[in-house]
Amino acid sequence: MANNSESQTSEQDLLRSQYAEIASLAGGLAHEIKNPLSTIGMNLELLAEDVEEGETPRDRRMIQKINIVRKECEHLDDILNAFMQFARAGELITSPVDLNEVVLEFIQFYQPKAKDRGIEISPHLSPDLPLVNADKSLLRQVLMNLALNAEQAMQDGGLLEIQTTALNDSVQLEIIDNGPGMDQATVGKMFEAFYSTKAGGNGLGLPTVRKIIESHQGKIVCDSAPGSGTRFTITLNSADAKGKSDG
Ligand SMILES: Nc1ncnc2c1ncn2[C@@H]1O[C@H](COP(=O)(O)OP(=O)(O)OP(=O)(O)O)[C@@H](O)[C@H]1O
Ligand SMILES: [Mg+2]
Repeated sequence: MANNSESQTSEQDLLRSQYAEIASLAGGLAHEIKNPLSTIGMNLELLAEDVEEGETPRDRRMIQKINIVRKECEHLDDILNAFMQFARAGELITSPVDLNEVVLEFIQFYQPKAKDRGIEISPHLSPDLPLVNADKSLLRQVLMNLALNAEQAMQDGGLLEIQTTALNDSVQLEIIDNGPGMDQATVGKMFEAFYSTKAGGNGLGLPTVRKIIESHQGKIVCDSAPGSGTRFTITLNSADAKGKSDG
């Protein structure tokens, strides 16, 4: 019996170290591609400037093709950035964090863009929220990715509610939009890497959010249906939860 569980542990250790190796290789590969890609992008820009001076139909055809390649380079850079964010989502630098403060800072930063897009932000923040042990900049990224999805879903504007609640040993963060909501098929796939229903979407926003929350030993669930909007509920252990349950 002991042997069995020992071999299970070593198998798990092996899988974990293989996963870590592949993740680090993939992250390194993305990083390595960025430099030559930026050289290609810069040279395409110079090429475009040279050709723009010409007026012949041949020059115009060349410019069109250069611009297509430039767009594709930008798209690749975008994918690499999103991928590197996903790869780093598990690297936490934690400290005791007041979630309300993170939410208020985020709203201050996001408010001007939201206003431009006709989105009203409505915060409901619990006044006596316990601290959480968390990586503040990753939590900011969670809010950004969820707000961006809500914004992209509410093309004609709408309401974005951000709510914090103190539970027994945990803290809850809800992000609710009154956009079109998702059908069952999308709800089933939305956390899969590279799943996107948007033209030009990378499909890495929600997988990154989930990875960040799970690295904090937290949970994320989604409640969404066509015509009923979308609610993401995140639960994080409060910083003193362990002390409480031990004592
Ligand atoms: N608030 C929302 N309302 C409606 N649909 C949503 C919402 N949030 C996510 N989705 C759906 O889930 C899919 C996956 O979301 P995710 O953020 O992972 O990728 P993306 O937004 O398509 O691309 P990326 O975030 O990488 O730019 C979206 O394409 C969209 O169909
Ligand atoms: Mg997204």
